[in-house]
Amino acid sequence: MPDLTLDLHPESAADAPAIDRLHERAFGPGRFARTAFRLREGVPPLLDLCFTARVGTLLVGSIRLSPVVIGAGTPGILLGPITIDPAFQSRGIGGALMRRSMDAARAKSHQLVILVGDAPYYQRFGFAVVPPGRLVLPGPVDPGRFLYAELQPGSFEGVSGPVRGARVAA
Ligand SMILES: CC(C)(COP(=O)(O)OP(=O)(O)OC[C@H]1O[C@@H](n2cnc3c(N)ncnc32)[C@H](O)[C@@H]1OP(=O)(O)O)[C@@H](O)C(=O)NCCC(=O)NCCS
Repeated sequence: MPDLTLDLHPESAADAPAIDRLHERAFGPGRFARTAFRLREGVPPLLDLCFTARVGTLLVGSIRLSPVVIGAGTPGILLGPITIDPAFQSRGIGGALMRRSMDAARAKSHQLVILVGDAPYYQRFGFAVVPPGRLVLPGPVDPGRFLYAELQPGSFEGVSGPVRGARVAA
């Protein structure tokens, strides 16, 4: 596609229907049964870290992050879903959204990000596989797809235990 002009915007409430359509198309109804979905259930996303990608007025991509608590009370962030409209994939939009959200999280002094996804894609953004057994999710995942990234050096040291969704303090 020639001359693709991409704009990234903080997510707003009005974006929800278009984002839901992206999720439905990418993941289908099975998305509600995924382990990562269970961590997000009843937990509002961290809107200051969520972004949309637009080409003109068309919403073509979305990234959301939500708060989790790990083990005895370590705060973390669950990254996902990130979804790019199939017609706009492999043009760097996913990478742009990843970098924008990770930078925003770092700027807000968040320490640790986890996600469930393909390591070959996410390792370029600093993600590595969670050592087996170190963190426990509320459902089954392929251990090779359970990833973490430190936003501050050493922030994963000593962190272990169950992961649960966290409500943001009002
Ligand atoms: C995964 C996804 C977010 C990537 O976004 P994108 O805008 O297409 O990706 P980018 O343009 O930033 O990066 C493209 C590169 O990533 C690679 N890539 C894309 N998806 C990949 C995957 N699942 N595993 C490994 N590499 C992947 C491409 O091969 C390409 O590699 P290259 O740079 O060496 O050519 C997007 O393809 C998507 O929405 N997929 C469907 C939904 C999904 O699976 N979301 C992630 C789970 S929450």
